[in-house]
Amino acid sequence: MGYAPLKSDEFLDISPIGIQQLTQNFPFFFMIIYLIPFYYVTSKVAAEKESKSREGMKMMGLNDSTYFLSWFIVFALISFITSGFITIVSAIHIFKYVNMFLFFCFCMLYSMTLYGWAFTIVSFLPTKRTSGIAATLFHVISFYLCFLIQDPLTPPSVQYGMSIFPNICMNQIVKQIFFYNYSTAEGLTFNTGSMTYQGYSFRGGILMMLFNVVFWALLGIYLDQVVPSQFGIAKPLCFCFQRRRGGVRINDAERQRLLADDEIGSKDRRNFEMVSDSLKKQERENNCLKVRGLVKKFGNKTAVGGTNLTMYNGQIFALLGHNGAGKTTTISMLTGLIEPNEGCAEVFGIDIFNNMDEMRKILGVCPQHDVLFEFLTA
Ligand SMILES: Nc1ncnc2c1ncn2[C@@H]1O[C@H](COP(=O)(O)OP(=O)(O)OP(=O)(O)O)[C@@H](O)[C@H]1O
Ligand SMILES: [Mg+2]
Repeated sequence: MGYAPLKSDEFLDISPIGIQQLTQNFPFFFMIIYLIPFYYVTSKVAAEKESKSREGMKMMGLNDSTYFLSWFIVFALISFITSGFITIVSAIHIFKYVNMFLFFCFCMLYSMTLYGWAFTIVSFLPTKRTSGIAATLFHVISFYLCFLIQDPLTPPSVQYGMSIFPNICMNQIVKQIFFYNYSTAEGLTFNTGSMTYQGYSFRGGILMMLFNVVFWALLGIYLDQVVPSQFGIAKPLCFCFQRRRGGVRINDAERQRLLADDEIGSKDRRNFEMVSDSLKKQERENNCLKVRGLVKKFGNKTAVGGTNLTMYNGQIFALLGHNGAGKTTTISMLTGLIEPNEGCAEVFGIDIFNNMDEMRKILGVCPQHDVLFEFLTA
């Protein structure tokens, strides 16, 4: 750790008060510029959930890693252009003694932190198009946490600890950049970046930012998987450590009992068609789709009240019923669009609700309404 030699006043082209004002306001403007990609991602991610296009695409075989990677690439491209623009403007007008490559890296890292931060916030918001606005508002409010560590005597550990929040980290680094540009003889270079100013260093801030990019991306992706939303089936909290991925809604013994039961169970036999021995054999060999005790409630309303059925291999199965009988709800549960409250279902031995990803590999769906990403126009 070292201290940078200070610049004498005649090198300054703005008054010290002007510098102070600029130092205080620059982080806010900086955040505002990046609100555009942030708002774009949060609103699109929320809209994709709301329009069911994301679940629809997952039914068609889209896997989560491709989905997150595609958003990462989109975000990185927007960030690259925005960061390039800010770097050029800042190099000309504000920072004459700052290595602009370092400044550009800082801009890119800040904006890439927002990628995971955006997914983290959106996962807690209800699935609505307005979630983009709510997430952006929350992001702006989080900026004001900076005031908690405004005192220059705040211990470095607290400053670095609070830097886990993207806006605080950005604010701390901007303070460093201003200090190097206006107060030190050498400015900000690869050599001076490790020097400390008010208990914080540019290099320390950048390392925190790097950590944040990874931390928020992992947290955002994790929360996206486990926090229940209106559509899709949330995975259990420890899904990463399970061999078979997916949520366990009923315990294994209960599931085995339900599936072993033939669909008639204790119910009135007159309501069920008797099946031939060859079809019964399919049931024993798990060569069919079994649904047992499937229940879905929307508040007090029971949309599906304990459906039992078996669809056999080589047959066409038609689900008929009056309006509001629960056909769409049943199919939505079987394809993973909405989560059931009770019951279980198995196709060719794959437990659907515990192993949705596996089941979707053999699933084809033609939904009631077109489920496509908004920007696919033709
Ligand atoms: N998201 C929801 N929130 C509240 N109630 C719902 C929801 N979705 C469906 N319902 C209710 O659940 C019941 C079953 O609806 P569902 O759409 O599954 O019926 P359906 O058999 O597909 O009817 P239709 O023949 O009209 O398509 C209906 O009474 C419906 O109002
Ligand atoms: Mg319907």
